[in-house]
Amino acid sequence: KPTCKIGPSILNADLSNLQESCIKMMDSGADYLHLDVMDGHFVPNLTFGHPFVKCLRPKVPEAFFDMHMMVSDPEKWVEPMADAGANQYTFHIEATENAKALARQIREAGMKVGIGIKPGTPVDVVVPYADEADMILVMTVEPGFGGQKFMGDMMSKVKFLREKFPDMDIEVDGGIGPNTIDACAEAGANMIVSGSAVVNAENPEAVISLLRGRVQN
Ligand code: DX5
Ligand code: ZN
Repeated sequence: KPTCKIGPSILNADLSNLQESCIKMMDSGADYLHLDVMDGHFVPNLTFGHPFVKCLRPKVPEAFFDMHMMVSDPEKWVEPMADAGANQYTFHIEATENAKALARQIREAGMKVGIGIKPGTPVDVVVPYADEADMILVMTVEPGFGGQKFMGDMMSKVKFLREKFPDMDIEVDGGIGPNTIDACAEAGANMIVSGSAVVNAENPEAVISLLRGRVQN
């Protein structure tokens, strides 16, 4: 499977000081930053949008920004996010009527394409779009909040995708930390999002390297 990458989610960090949290994560060995955008409609919570990303970009110039777009009109924010400095645009398949056109729009804007599925969405739904995607995100919690319990039964989706697409980046997100990483690694995930387990740790660097070690072995 492709290289393991650890992407902290800063959702549960000190929101009044996100710049510092992002710098700290990069200094702690993060491979990318997973930035959770919520619109209060696709999910029952609100975070930030492209104006925030634009301000953050110069503070962490080297960081790869994986935008997790938990929004109802993903088509609407593609160009603004690209302009703000996003590197990857991960939309939810449940939020669009035309995933193919959206994937093309994202690519034309110069970003990588991620396609996410919620826990209740069957994995087969993404298969027809896999050719258009750089990454498939399998949610391991109901999107909307950090700090929820990992849903182990989502691992069958990851296994299915890994068997079908050996070279695809497969990301898992929600409730992942030292206690749940082994299931993700065994199923074949290689892009690991970890929020509260990393951000709230006394030593984020140690947790990031532990997670990476468990996926690589
Ligand atoms: C949940 C978000 C996740 C979340 C992960 O809707 O998509 O990225 O912040 O946080 P933890 O690891 O605490 O579940
Ligand atoms: Zn996320």
